[in-house]
Order: sequence, then structure tokens, then C-alpha cells
Amino acid sequence: MFGKSEIIWLREVDSTNRFALENFDAFEHGTMIAAPHQSAGRGSKGRVWFSPPDVNVYASLILKGFDFTAPQAAWIGSLAVLEVLCNYAPRLDFSVKWPNDVLCGMKKIAGILCETTPGSRGIVIGAGINVNMDRKMLDSIGRPATSLYAETGALVDDVGAIAVEMRQEALNLYELACREGIDALHRIWSHENALMGKEISIRLHDGTVISGMAVDCTNDGALLLVGLADSQVYTITNGEILMPLKELNSSITQ
Ligand code: BTN
Repeated sequence: MFGKSEIIWLREVDSTNRFALENFDAFEHGTMIAAPHQSAGRGSKGRVWFSPPDVNVYASLILKGFDFTAPQAAWIGSLAVLEVLCNYAPRLDFSVKWPNDVLCGMKKIAGILCETTPGSRGIVIGAGINVNMDRKMLDSIGRPATSLYAETGALVDDVGAIAVEMRQEALNLYELACREGIDALHRIWSHENALMGKEISIRLHDGTVISGMAVDCTNDGALLLVGLADSQVYTITNGEILMPLKELNSSITQ
């Protein structure tokens, strides 16, 4: 139905992830759906992803024919975004943060949301990247957030080019994982993970809060935390990090 376009640019959509999932079978592996605006952008944990027009990247990449889990696919998305941002602003300090964020310093600059359709072998990797948002827009998010423009003071002329580069980086990482195994991706992602070696608190879905040191990430995407109170190793598959990011820097315990 949609032909073989590598990137399908929509003028406007509610959510590029929703659109990609609903039309999953009509697209080939490697197709990206991108739009300059989303009227109902989806964030993780059921949140809304703030998607104002013409300033950011909103893009969803369709990957087919593999059995990666959603957290593993999120490594592809976050590392692809990290690579592109490093190319655009090599002097800035970018990192990834478990489970699905890309940070600049201690502020979130991009988020990844991976979703699957029941019964299909494949996944949609959605990425929202804050590119030309100004400080006023960023402050309206109500969480520590930043954009390329806020960090560099220079507007990016062609926001769409970032989506094009991200697609290529993601396909390269996908091929690396198919060729060398998921461990190769896991190693790169763990190396870039801002939480490693830091003391953090996490609220689990049942409301329990665990404080501990993030020591590793399993190769199926769980965070390993050594509890401060009991030295027990906790395997966290889902949870919300409570400690304000600005405090992460000063909490390194060696
Ligand atoms: C997060 O909460 O960190 C994940 C945000 C993911 C947002 C992107 S924007 C493109 C794609 N379409 C959506 O509706 N969400 C993802």
C-alpha cells in the first residue's frame, strides 16, 4: 500500500509510533515514519510526549525479522540518536540513561519508545529528539530537559536531516547486532550508560523504593542495582528513577 519509500514524511500525525504500528504489515523493514508535528505523541509509562511543530524530530523506525526484546531495540534507538547528536555537537557531553533516554549533561534531550504489534516479528523504534526548542518551551515540560539549540545557541537548519542520519545509524547498529550478536550492542550501550557506578533510588511498579548503586545492565535490558541497605543485587526490569539527575554527578562512590 505504501510502496518502498525509505522515509515516509507525514505532514501531521497523532503519533508516528501509532501510525507505524497500525500499518506495520504494509511497510518494509527499515522504513521510517517521520513528521514535523504530533498531536498526541506517546511517551514511556503512558505519558504524553510534548511534540510542538517544526522544531524537533519525531520519527519511528520499523525493524522486522528478528527477536530482540523492546529494551534491546531501545539500545539501537538510543545509540543511534547518541551518535547523530555527537556528530552535530562534538563538544557536548551526551550519554544514554537506562532505560530509554538520551542525556546532554544531566538533562534529557531525547527519548525512545519501542512498541510491538502482537504476533509480528519486529518492532517500532520511536525517537523524539529536542532540536530547536527554546528554553521557554523546554521549561513548560516540567522536567529537566534540553535541546541542541538550548545547548549550542545555534538553530539546526534542516531538522529532517537528523532523522535521515538517525535511520542510517540505527540500521548500522541493527546489522552489527545481527552479525556479532546482541552482546556487542550491550557492551557499547553499557559503556555509554550515565547511571553506571552511581547511587540512585528507583520506585518499582508496586510502589517499593530501592536505593542502590547501578552496577550493570543485563543483556536483556534489566538494570542491576546493589542495595545500599542490604548489599543484595536487584534486577530491575521496570521502574522510575527518583533521584534528580543533577545529583547523579556528585554521587559517584568508588
Ligand atoms: C520517552 O518518554 O522518553 C519516550 C518518548 C518517545 C517519543 C517518540 S516521538 C516519535 C515516536 N512517536 C511517538 O508517539 N512517540 C515516539
